[in-house]
Amino acid sequence: MEGDVIAFVGPDEEAQRYVEQRRQQPIQIIDARGKLAAPGLIDPHTHAVYAGHREFEFSMRLRGAAYMDILRAGGGILQTTQQTRLATEEELREQTEKRLDRFLAHGVTTIEAKSGYGLNIDAELKQLAVAHALNETHPVEVIPTFMGAHAVPPEYGGDTDAYVQHIIEEMLPAVSNQGIAEFCDVFCEEHVFTLEQSRRILEAGKRYGLKPKLHADEIAVTGGGAELAAELGAVSADHLLNASSEGIRRMAERGVIAVLLPGTAFFLMKRPADARAIIDAGVPVALATDCNPGSSPTESLPFVMSLACLTMGMTPAEAIAACTINAAHAVGRANRIGSLEAGKRADIVLFDAPNPEYLVSHYAVNLADTVIKKGRPVIRGGVRQRR
Ligand code: NIG
Ligand code: FE
Repeated sequence: MEGDVIAFVGPDEEAQRYVEQRRQQPIQIIDARGKLAAPGLIDPHTHAVYAGHREFEFSMRLRGAAYMDILRAGGGILQTTQQTRLATEEELREQTEKRLDRFLAHGVTTIEAKSGYGLNIDAELKQLAVAHALNETHPVEVIPTFMGAHAVPPEYGGDTDAYVQHIIEEMLPAVSNQGIAEFCDVFCEEHVFTLEQSRRILEAGKRYGLKPKLHADEIAVTGGGAELAAELGAVSADHLLNASSEGIRRMAERGVIAVLLPGTAFFLMKRPADARAIIDAGVPVALATDCNPGSSPTESLPFVMSLACLTMGMTPAEAIAACTINAAHAVGRANRIGSLEAGKRADIVLFDAPNPEYLVSHYAVNLADTVIKKGRPVIRGGVRQRR
């Protein structure tokens, strides 16, 4: 590495020669013998900026309540919205920072983070501002996505069309004016936003330069989400538990990435997406935690890799590619991160694992030993290094 960039990658002898030619420069050597060097992991789908927590819902679901019923009764996303609206920017920043610490500890050096717990202009902008501000103070890079269409806030009394209108006419201009969000996402789902409403929002988002993403075919079997993502040329379609084979075929045609979230399926006790069929159809697959207080409270992307193999038929190599280079594509950063190549940013994890299969099979345990962000070791021997 030189500065914050990977300067050279190659076999031992060539590396030796490379180092010798630079004897005059101060050189620091990090001994990675016996470890697995991987690109810093990238989580392309999180809702990590929120206030409060909802473990009582976990207990409700264990007693048989359905995730969507809790939301329809005013809980779920709307519960977190209440708490996020009440939180000051400082409180929101502190709570999110803890999650970023845990991401980093697991070897995650970049995350995407959605708004969508504000559901009014001020609170949505507050979430995006916090995501953006954390980039200045925390090693984990946070890529903000506007997701005002995550649920319909109670003040609209169920008038989804009126809220959609508000998003298009007022929220999007404000978000664009703030200039922080890169993507626009919609929870396209039965009882939330219809295909038509999702299309209108994402098309309006595009006009403001926000690249479309979509929560597609997660819960209801009626579907059409994958097809819509393809029609819009979305960067990614996410979840896809109930995507149709026609929808998957169209995603392959349009080059839409599938972001799969087996941790969410696991936590909601649902059958996960058919990753094998999606990959075999020619759709690139990325993996993400979905980190959020209701359907996936975790920052462990490595555990998601294990689940991807155990529950969705992916290979360890596919799981690692899905959390690195494919995930980089899913957040529009493949030219800078996601692989160990000269010229890319020096975001590197050393896992205490002799090979990729070991890493992915040693499940639910954190093996990240050293985490290097922009050329700087920020975790060594599992311990956070402060400047
Ligand atoms: O991706 N599906 C919608 N949104 C999140 C859940 C958010 C929440 O429950 O707070 C998801 O699963
Ligand atoms: Fe999500």
